[in-house]
Amino acid sequence: MAEYWYVRPEKEEAVNFFFNSGRKPDYTQKFEINEKDFIHTGRATAEMKLLLKRLGVEATVLRRFAIIGYEAEINITAHSRGGEMICNVYPDLVHVVFEDKGPGMKDIEQSMTPGFSTADQEIRELGFGAGLGLPNIKKNTDMMHITSAENSNTVLEIIVFFKENE
Ligand SMILES: Nc1ncnc2c1ncn2[C@@H]1O[C@H](COP(=O)(O)OP(=O)(O)OP(=O)(O)O)[C@@H](O)[C@H]1O
Ligand SMILES: [Mg+2]
Repeated sequence: MAEYWYVRPEKEEAVNFFFNSGRKPDYTQKFEINEKDFIHTGRATAEMKLLLKRLGVEATVLRRFAIIGYEAEINITAHSRGGEMICNVYPDLVHVVFEDKGPGMKDIEQSMTPGFSTADQEIRELGFGAGLGLPNIKKNTDMMHITSAENSNTVLEIIVFFKENE
């Protein structure tokens, strides 16, 4: 199983603290994401975004969360056999795990390259397949961790902190 890590440099300490602290989330919600279900994909993210908004999370952070969530949900819908999104809400951050049922990525670094896409004709006709989803997730996240391999499942884990400048 290969893995890929990215941590926004300003958040390195906070991310390390998160993984070492063994904290428990205030709230957890799990959503199913189905293969090729382009009608419903994105709903989980929309619902979570609304919840975070009610908790008082600022608009720029909500926008970043939405971009990450939509891109990750669409990737499960387009490129996998389906999976789930597990959102863990803490007082100061949201931690999300996207896990699917395979078939996985041949080469994660290649998947992360802007413009790389294995999207087929059907997916391209729906307007996806520019190969910019994962780079866009990276641009907007404070942490991302991918584990995947060919003929295996893919797990994408992300963290977004509610305060951008501390
Ligand atoms: N959950 C996944 N399972 C298997 N492969 C994936 C998964 N997510 C992404 N990939 C692979 O990584 C490639 C790049 O993903 P990325 O989201 O950057 O672009 P895309 O989905 O092809 O196009 P876009 O997101 O711009 O519509 C995909 O084409 C696919 O090969
Ligand atoms: Mg994509």
